[in-house]
Amino acid sequence: MPDNCAVEVMGLTKRFGDLVAVDKVSFCIPKGIVFSLLGPNGAGKTTTINMLSTLLKPTGGDAYIHGYSIIRDRGEVRQIIGLVPQDLTADDELTGWENVYIQAKLYGLPSGKAEEKTEEALRFMELWDHRKRRVSTYSGGMRRRLEIAMSLVNEPRVMFLDEPTLGLDVHSRRHLWGLIERLKEQGTTILLTTHYMEEAEYLADRIAIIDHGKIVVEDTPDGLKARIKGDRIYLRLGEEEAVSVVKALTEKGFNASLRNSDSIIVKVERSEEILPELISILQGRKLLEIRVVKPNLEEVFIELTGRGLRGEESFDSFKYRVMRRRMR
Ligand SMILES: Nc1ncnc2c1ncn2[C@@H]1O[C@H](COP(=O)(O)OP(=O)(O)OP(=O)(O)O)[C@@H](O)[C@H]1O
Ligand SMILES: [Mg+2]
Repeated sequence: MPDNCAVEVMGLTKRFGDLVAVDKVSFCIPKGIVFSLLGPNGAGKTTTINMLSTLLKPTGGDAYIHGYSIIRDRGEVRQIIGLVPQDLTADDELTGWENVYIQAKLYGLPSGKAEEKTEEALRFMELWDHRKRRVSTYSGGMRRRLEIAMSLVNEPRVMFLDEPTLGLDVHSRRHLWGLIERLKEQGTTILLTTHYMEEAEYLADRIAIIDHGKIVVEDTPDGLKARIKGDRIYLRLGEEEAVSVVKALTEKGFNASLRNSDSIIVKVERSEEILPELISILQGRKLLEIRVVKPNLEEVFIELTGRGLRGEESFDSFKYRVMRRRMR
């Protein structure tokens, strides 16, 4: 095992009956970086984090956190990690201070030390002034910060953050990003899952794209974007026009393909140079939308998996979870 890995994952697998939720996943998270698992609903992000944090027993493979096996050394692993689960865990009826203090006591800290760590964690997450309020009066962003504070009391060397900014507004999300950056500056290694490509792009030193339980690709954000050469032009047309437009464009030498029944993707080197010609070919067609996209992580994802990050499911579990989180 390379000894620069804070987390070394080797062939980690989890089956639920016939479903392979995590399929022989392997990666190394070097010490002190932010590593992001980016993937759509059901990709296997939470299952991976739950195995790494010893909440869930793997079906196969193993992983080492600072050399401790998540299968054989669960006690040691738990001492050096912090977990912020996807679903809310703070107790609404208690104050912020009480939630963090209880966590410190659960780690077996004596009262004085527990108080000290509670204050440190609350100050770090900028919640000290709100410590006496009940959690039920907290905003979504404050709750999330509180949950991170709760996981800081044992000074974890590795933090697992499962969708830490899910459902937060832009302002709270940015605030949290700043705090996560400060955690990293303190030397904490962070594994963060997210749906938000801009979050992975902003925070992560390395990104692994996960889909259907498998790591599709792993690289730096720039390395991933460099895989997309040129721009993408998305066209949405009237019903039954798409097929003939693809044909017309292909005949003129464009790299055009059908995306679904009414939309087309055209891959070009530099969109600004070909837009006039493209528009002239589309004269007389019912063009409903044209969108030029520069290389970004979403495009990388589409290129590698054939679909968007949010997926195209009929039941939007993303929205459902955001809603549930707000209702609590
Ligand atoms: N306890 C379980 N029993 C059966 N299937 C499960 C269980 N937990 C997860 N799964 C399934 O495993 C797959 C991976 O789920 P997981 O929660 O890890 O995905 P995820 O990437 O975290 O998704 P999301 O973005 O929605 O949080 C999904 O198909 C899910 O339905
Ligand atoms: Mg999840």
